[in-house]
Amino acid sequence: WKLAQSPSVDKIWIAPGNAGTAKTGENVALAADDIEGLVAFARENGVDLVVPGPELPLTLGISDAMQEAGIACFGPDKYCAQLEGSKSFARELMAEAGVPGPECSAFTDAASARDYINSHPRGLVIKADGLAQGKGVIVAENVAAAIAAVNEMLQEKKFGAAGAKILIEEKLEGEEASLLCVCDGETALPLAAAQDHKAAFDHDLGPNTGGMGAYSPPPMLPDDQLEQMTDLVIRPVLRKLSERGHPFRGILYAGLMLTRQGPKVLEYNVRFGDPECQPIMLRLESDLAGTLNSACAGELSQERILLKPDTALGVVLAADGYPDDYEKGQPITGIADAESGGSATVFIAGAGTDGQTLRSSGGRVLCVTALAKNLPQAQDLAYKGLKKIKMPKSRFRRDIGYKGIARLARAWR
Ligand code: AMP
Ligand code: GLY
Repeated sequence: WKLAQSPSVDKIWIAPGNAGTAKTGENVALAADDIEGLVAFARENGVDLVVPGPELPLTLGISDAMQEAGIACFGPDKYCAQLEGSKSFARELMAEAGVPGPECSAFTDAASARDYINSHPRGLVIKADGLAQGKGVIVAENVAAAIAAVNEMLQEKKFGAAGAKILIEEKLEGEEASLLCVCDGETALPLAAAQDHKAAFDHDLGPNTGGMGAYSPPPMLPDDQLEQMTDLVIRPVLRKLSERGHPFRGILYAGLMLTRQGPKVLEYNVRFGDPECQPIMLRLESDLAGTLNSACAGELSQERILLKPDTALGVVLAADGYPDDYEKGQPITGIADAESGGSATVFIAGAGTDGQTLRSSGGRVLCVTALAKNLPQAQDLAYKGLKKIKMPKSRFRRDIGYKGIARLARAWR
């Protein structure tokens, strides 16, 4: 959507795409992890720039493969993608780079993991080391629940190979924020910060999901603090990777917990977060294609990223049951109505068309996103848009932005 607005972009192909991307470009029937197929397609069609969206192709080495074929690719190589693909790799690199994080330890053996929890009662966060679509993290309420999570991952193998190694982390308290930076290997430019809502239900209850809604900027990490935060949690990691002979090119995303002891990194992602990306794109004034091309050319130090000072907020419409089992194929109506007058933009995730009807095809189906002068207005506009969309057996969180609004209310009092 944003790349399509760029004066330098003539044509966009999206693989595999969905009903929404079909409106901004041409969908191509290739899976996101079909690296060979994607390289061949890019070659045959004279593609100038490849922008991988999800983490899987990055961890499979799409960036290396495109590079070998002489095609510019805005995404980290396979080595750097371990920052997201292996939580223990990320923790080791962070420790080496001096980036603050929770106390943490890695295990493959269930008995040792249980002993650790018993001797570290704050060690309540259990994480599958590998990729689990945002669902491989259990924040336990107590020691018994933490031990149950260990058993699930290491003994019952709930996440398969992704959970064969686990991390046990100190449970941090505070408010969360995501910082996204554009990196060219040496230079990191802060793009924006956002606040995601990972839990499935209102008031941050229920299991973790990929994200149920987000807004930008979060009041506790405003635009004028992004440089300082980038110095603390992004640039040291970039330097280490460059020293290791793997300069990081792409989006480096730090998931932060703002604790009383200062900011600490919960995780890194190596791509635009979803749904953080949607509100951030509404705020972005700079030419995205220009910025990404500069990053690929190693010329970011000459770039500036311009953001609107306004607030954007997006609410995810999900299938009932997500992040566990849910039905696909539900009909969706009302999108044009939600977007009428330009008051909201609907970004489709898991939905496709069968001839005339738009039908859900995934757990997170779409994200209704709105831009306004301030957070309460953006929230109001996004929910007004969402209420015009009808899908049976669907649900959404009704409180996206609540922490930011409470914080603003305290500041205004
Ligand atoms: P991650 O995918 O590692 O960011 O974890 C997903 C979510 O779990 C985070 O957004 C937090 O809400 C929570 N979380 C992860 N690590 C911790 C931690 N050490 N302490 C408290 N909450 C955490
Ligand atoms: N919303 C967080 C993520 O994309 O993983």
